[in-house]
Amino acid sequence: MEGFPFRTYPTGWFQVGWSAQLAPETMSSLKIFGRDVVLYRSRSGVARLVDAHCPHLGAHLGFGKVVGDCIQCPFHGWEFDLGGRNSLVPFADRPMPKIKLRQWDIEEKNGVIFVWHDALGREPFWSWIDVPELDDAVESYPAEQHYAGIRKILPQQMFENGPDELHFCYVHGSGEPAQIVSWKEEFPFLHYQAELKFGADKAPTWLTPNGPVVARLTSQATIGVGVVWFSFDDIKVTQLVAMTPVDAEHSMAFSTTAGKRDPSSPDKPNERTVGLMRYQHSQIERDFSIWENQIYIERPPFSAPEKRHFAKFRNWVSEYYPEEALENPYDETG
Ligand code: FES
Ligand SMILES: [Fe+2]
Repeated sequence: MEGFPFRTYPTGWFQVGWSAQLAPETMSSLKIFGRDVVLYRSRSGVARLVDAHCPHLGAHLGFGKVVGDCIQCPFHGWEFDLGGRNSLVPFADRPMPKIKLRQWDIEEKNGVIFVWHDALGREPFWSWIDVPELDDAVESYPAEQHYAGIRKILPQQMFENGPDELHFCYVHGSGEPAQIVSWKEEFPFLHYQAELKFGADKAPTWLTPNGPVVARLTSQATIGVGVVWFSFDDIKVTQLVAMTPVDAEHSMAFSTTAGKRDPSSPDKPNERTVGLMRYQHSQIERDFSIWENQIYIERPPFSAPEKRHFAKFRNWVSEYYPEEALENPYDETG
């Protein structure tokens, strides 16, 4: 992004997929943080994320297959076990367990697969939170998964959207700015609550049949993944949003939404819940068109109302970017 001052990828947990989409003995090839990787699940159900290229002669493992609990290279059939160690060299007497694949730290939670990334190579030093609403079959309808693809967006652009109270009027057509009513910085989490009036100065719609309604949002966010709990009249929707860097300019955009079950419509979400979830997805597309064409103004001339939260966010966010140890910006190939 033109003008973006941080020269490393941010540190944290990032989504790489959904658990249900990675069946045992399947794999998918991805690019994250400038590197080619392969995500796979063993026959026994364990998910792993490894660097894509085989340490033997560099073939891409994503063209191979999962054999039992091992991943097999397509070129000469070498296999690597769940610890990343070479466990089979065909036609040789024994494997070479010291030859290893680089494994990334991943975690599956609430039906989502997350990877840890830190440009300094530090082990995970915090955990992403449990969001039980996303996979609570009793209290919530089944979660909806929405993958918006690889976009020319950086994770920070998505996460500074909530603190940007004024854009709601112009990008999302709300009659009034959002109002942030509480704000707490607790690294790595930013917690805030906001109120957003729907239907201000407008005729009633399916969403606001009785006139304007104030939606309450409670958010807990980091730089790569965040959750918003919406409460809107009788509707409650939980949304996990995630942006995972592909390279220095692009990210994968994920959203997972789950509505709270309405006792009068226990088997399928009522129309207003479905409508609100769809509305969320359509609204974020409006943000995307701004973000994909935006340049970064490092020291914006913030207006007085923006100084309350947006400016604070910009001060706070630098903690996610460990600049110190990198000689070559974005070069993580070593
Ligand atoms: S390149 Fe992978 S087994 Fe030879
Ligand atoms: Fe927005």
